[in-house]
Amino acid sequence: MTVSATSSKDTALQQASSLIERALAGELSRPVVKSFFDEATFTASHVVHDPATQYAAIIDSVLDYDAASGRTTHESADEIIAYVRQEGLKIEWLLETHAHADHLSAAPYLQEKLGGKLAIGREIITVQQTFGKLFNAGTEFERDGSQFDRLFDDGDTFEIGNLHAAVLHVPGHTPADLAYIIGDAVFPGDTIFMPDFGTARADFPGGDAHRLYHSIRRLLSLPREARLFLCHDYKADGRDEFVWETTIGAERDENVHAHDGVSEDAFVTMRTERDRTLDMPKLLMPSVQVNMRGGRLPEPEENGTRYIKIPINAV
Ligand SMILES: [Fe+2]
Repeated sequence: MTVSATSSKDTALQQASSLIERALAGELSRPVVKSFFDEATFTASHVVHDPATQYAAIIDSVLDYDAASGRTTHESADEIIAYVRQEGLKIEWLLETHAHADHLSAAPYLQEKLGGKLAIGREIITVQQTFGKLFNAGTEFERDGSQFDRLFDDGDTFEIGNLHAAVLHVPGHTPADLAYIIGDAVFPGDTIFMPDFGTARADFPGGDAHRLYHSIRRLLSLPREARLFLCHDYKADGRDEFVWETTIGAERDENVHAHDGVSEDAFVTMRTERDRTLDMPKLLMPSVQVNMRGGRLPEPEENGTRYIKIPINAV
């Protein structure tokens, strides 16, 4: 579904905007957000909690993976677990903004240790069909989203304790990308990055720069004061520190790819040319293969060992 940012019938967007406005006005609770940055994959994971009830969600966690040895470790996830225990948080949700192509999700590990329901966008089914074919996964790999506890649609709402949350479908980077709006905080996944860095690539299978443009315009029509917590940061040229928090207003004024006034044609031309110059992420093959399964590793072969496949000359 493509929705224009100016459409007066965009009820999901209006609902998300009003949620933010009411949180900013103090009528609804505002979440506490603690972020964890993984320098190996440039990923920011966020723990979002309701200060009144201690109920919490973990957004976009990272399972550490050494590609050379094929070894997984849990340093990043254990750091989150330590924080959750120290703060006495109760995990209600493990939220994925999309099937990441640059890191493995630690959601199943966190679910085992902390509980919570695992959720992603309904279009993950499209992603599972595409990648199920690419990796020639057997019939035991279900392509119906059943690896997740909840599949969200555009306009869906949910709660984290007393916090009200809403979902916007923001495709373009992948077909399944979601943005989560929790109180006055927005988690846009891979759509937009810090104003000085720009936007997410749109050249993965199922990606589409036109759709990404419309998703970004839609996100940027949320209230200017909303806090924006990004999924990645790559340190723009001239900046020495990783930063993953900004505001909708700052993006509208300053985003180098998508500030107010950038036309769809100009954006798509820029995005397409830039994407041609980007290397594939180092962990593309393991990430996609694991994340299409909700972060679970492929089933072991008859010798008891699990394998990551690499399709040759297929991407
Ligand atoms: Fe991504």
